Amino acid sequence: MKGLTFSSVSFLLLFTLFSQSLAVKHNDFKTCSQSGFCRRGRALAERANTTPRWQSPYSLDPSSISVSSSQASFTAGIKSSLYPDIKFGLDVRVQEDGVVRVRMDEIDGLRKRYDEAAGWALIAEPLVNQDITWTVGKKDVRATYGPKKDIEVVVEFQPLRVVLKRGGKEQVVVNGRGLLHMEHFRTKSEAKEIKEGEEAQEPMQVNSLAWFEGDSEDGYWEESFGSHKDSKPKGPESLSVDIEFPNHGHVYGIPQHATSLSLPTTTGDDPFYSDPFRLYNADVFEYLASSPMSLYGSIPLMHAHSADSTVGVFHVVASETWIDISHPTTKSTNTHWISESGILDLFLLPGPTPEAVFKQYATLTGTAPLPAHWALAYHQCRWNYVSSDDVRTVAKRFDEEDMPVDVFWLDIEYAEEHKYFIWDKKTFPDPIEMTNDVAAVGRKMVAIIDPHLKRTSNYPVYEQAKELDVLVKKSDNNEYEGWCWTGSSSWVDFFNPASWSWWASLFKMQEGKTWSWTQSTEDIYVWNDMNEPAIFNGPEITMPKDNVHYGGWEHRDVHNINGMLFPNVTSQGLIARSDPPKRPFVLTRSFYAGSQRFGAMWTGDNMGTWEHMAVGIKMVLANSIAGMSFAGSDVGGFFGNPESEMLVRWYQWGIFSPFFRAHAHIDTKRREPYLLDEPYKSMLRDILRLRYSMLPVWYTAFRETSATGLPVLRPQYVMFPQDTNGFAIDDQFYVGGSGLLVKPVTSPGAKDASVYLAENQVYYDYFSHKAYRGSSKGKSVTVPAELHQVPVLIRGGSVIPTRERPRRSSPLMKNDPFTLRVALGSASSARGELYLDDGVTFSHEKGDVVFREFTAGKAGKGIRISSTDLAAAHPGDVALSTYDKQNDFVKSIEKVKVEKIVVLGLGVKPSSVKIEGGEQLEFEFVEGVAADGKKEGVASVLTIKNPGVLITKDWEIVVA
Ligand code: NOJ
Repeated sequence: MKGLTFSSVSFLLLFTLFSQSLAVKHNDFKTCSQSGFCRRGRALAERANTTPRWQSPYSLDPSSISVSSSQASFTAGIKSSLYPDIKFGLDVRVQEDGVVRVRMDEIDGLRKRYDEAAGWALIAEPLVNQDITWTVGKKDVRATYGPKKDIEVVVEFQPLRVVLKRGGKEQVVVNGRGLLHMEHFRTKSEAKEIKEGEEAQEPMQVNSLAWFEGDSEDGYWEESFGSHKDSKPKGPESLSVDIEFPNHGHVYGIPQHATSLSLPTTTGDDPFYSDPFRLYNADVFEYLASSPMSLYGSIPLMHAHSADSTVGVFHVVASETWIDISHPTTKSTNTHWISESGILDLFLLPGPTPEAVFKQYATLTGTAPLPAHWALAYHQCRWNYVSSDDVRTVAKRFDEEDMPVDVFWLDIEYAEEHKYFIWDKKTFPDPIEMTNDVAAVGRKMVAIIDPHLKRTSNYPVYEQAKELDVLVKKSDNNEYEGWCWTGSSSWVDFFNPASWSWWASLFKMQEGKTWSWTQSTEDIYVWNDMNEPAIFNGPEITMPKDNVHYGGWEHRDVHNINGMLFPNVTSQGLIARSDPPKRPFVLTRSFYAGSQRFGAMWTGDNMGTWEHMAVGIKMVLANSIAGMSFAGSDVGGFFGNPESEMLVRWYQWGIFSPFFRAHAHIDTKRREPYLLDEPYKSMLRDILRLRYSMLPVWYTAFRETSATGLPVLRPQYVMFPQDTNGFAIDDQFYVGGSGLLVKPVTSPGAKDASVYLAENQVYYDYFSHKAYRGSSKGKSVTVPAELHQVPVLIRGGSVIPTRERPRRSSPLMKNDPFTLRVALGSASSARGELYLDDGVTFSHEKGDVVFREFTAGKAGKGIRISSTDLAAAHPGDVALSTYDKQNDFVKSIEKVKVEKIVVLGLGVKPSSVKIEGGEQLEFEFVEGVAADGKKEGVASVLTIKNPGVLITKDWEIVVA
């Protein structure tokens, strides 16, 4: 196979070795029962469940309450009756937007608990609400707030219990089941011996420790997994807390797991999974399509949802965390969070709607910035395009087959001995010329830069890192060495500030640099892989927990954040390398809360199976609701050789994922879209073109996400929070606020698909214009889904802007005219948005944008369609301090026209269509079903050809 001819024998040997040693996956990763602190946490829950009158030993000492001078927050001492000499401190504050932050830490302990996770996840220290007044009573301290004064936070003293209420109803209860436990630091010698068999039956009796902590020191001081020993120099320091949602039957979030969007149970009478959901960034080889196992990224954010309320909890903890979920009733949810280390730093997001929760989370961790426009187009990747000529040939084949593509990717084999930044001169002798050839038609390249540095003196990056003393250390303070693609490797400690400007500087093409990233151009962007970090000979394929990072923190404390720092610093390097700066593009595999600020993510090494295709949708949705909107999964499946039918279906889902990249393992057969036989090849061409035609929709959706934190892909419960039928639906979704509803087909042999419509509204098939009627009670409709058909409906009431001229790459579409699909809703009106800017620089931040609103509404017997300037009307919506109607970007596209307007669902044939105050326009009308009627069938279609109106200008068209 061509893809392998270049490979050095040594690489193949290494690879074969690793793929064999990595096979079987379950044994490489811990279950809860193999992890000391998780066992202890679950055992605590079990004792609580089986002990009558169980009560949390933690209480708040009212005499210690100290309300801040501004009244906005209070602190108090917390005691555990089991350890009267150990002090804990509680800090509770309400933020400006109503989010409650609850922090608890051990005070004056033998050591300090890791408390820096929030520093990495949050964009800033949240502003505290100055209008709060805490009322300190005999049994609790409480505050009421909110625009309707209907939100109340109550901190009960004994036992300690924190409750967030809205409208008198409990929304979130912390420690309601008494599972809160912060294992204090202790010395090994002072450890208490609790004899077996002495377990107390009732709380607070003689053997209270056994009642609470268990009767043995389970995994306190050392643990082994396989051949790996964790020295655990700090001893036990885990943190357990139960969080109840007494009025919410569904919970979502805590990505990333391959599972349904509405999270299934892990405890209770008949749990769906036997293990808790795990958050511990891990490179799981051939991961299962349904499992609570940890994957590459971790976001400790959970939404809890019911028909009348959405709330969220965000537990900013960076260590390994396990989360049990159960549903005591169909309308309530219990969760139990067990973390290995760190402080309790819990944000309670009061909602009350999904939209409000997104906003509250975005206020904390930021939004995904608007990506470069080209980054929303099609990315062609494989492991590996083997030479610069290979890249040129692939590009040529796309052109010959009239298939659009924007980005060609280079996996690890471009780099000499996997020394990233350094081209393998045998295969890539002319990287600049190659990139320029690709860029000649506006295309880009992405090259992989992994975090493992080959330990060799002929690798300047490694040498410089050593010199700067920024490499991760072992517990004995010597440089840590592990194995990855590079063989013997070391890892940069990105927690060390000394690494930041140095790493960022590596991307700058300075004159006189002696090594090869000088052989790079501004058209090459970056892929950060293996940043969990993946370490082939490490425990659970990652770094030993007793490794030491900057500040003396153990790897165990920071593991889940580790992966996020790499794309953070890399994206800064990409911004800094050009003047004026360009928007960066970095794809990351590992992520944490806040990672949305640094680029895109993908769901890692999926398999080419129908199950994986299907679960990819759920995973992208779960990531999206946790901030990671710029998400996708490998189109085609990373492993395996999908048959043509599967590949076509996979592309159909791919074009509707925010990040759209085909990728394949080195052992797979080549499967670029032009290689398929007919009719599949033509189907793929149409599918790719459909994505390109819809780029205006995607870009507009990303604009909204960057401004509001609302996800680009929106699941049913987000769109229709009151429709209980939709709460578990995770195989269809809406694209931003555009009104496009997509139901990818993920099973073989399909001829049709069932799409759920939650509202009494007309929906139109995007292609055939068939009108379907929803119902306010919810209703499923059957839509055609032969292999060439992807089920896409337009929600009545939407205006969809597209560009329909096929081009080789998206930058070539810059001056292309627009088509507007005006899909009239049941009230014969419609609305839509279009956002545009130069797509490359940051000039949009100073107002160089076009942001239009299109509306259609009844006017007499006809309708009026108009375009107005949304940026001028709502400058805040585009985050503009200055906006000038005649800005440079407007000028650059001022001749761009609307070439066609298609109106769906008009009741009667118009007698005239004209520009307000102007000429008559040519039109065609095909009779059909009206939007405001009851009939199903093909909708009436009014086509206004060449209306002559400009995309940047205000206009009105009167259909009479
Ligand atoms: C693992 C990544 O998940 C995969 O996408 C990539 O191809 C290989 N590493 C090789 O770099």
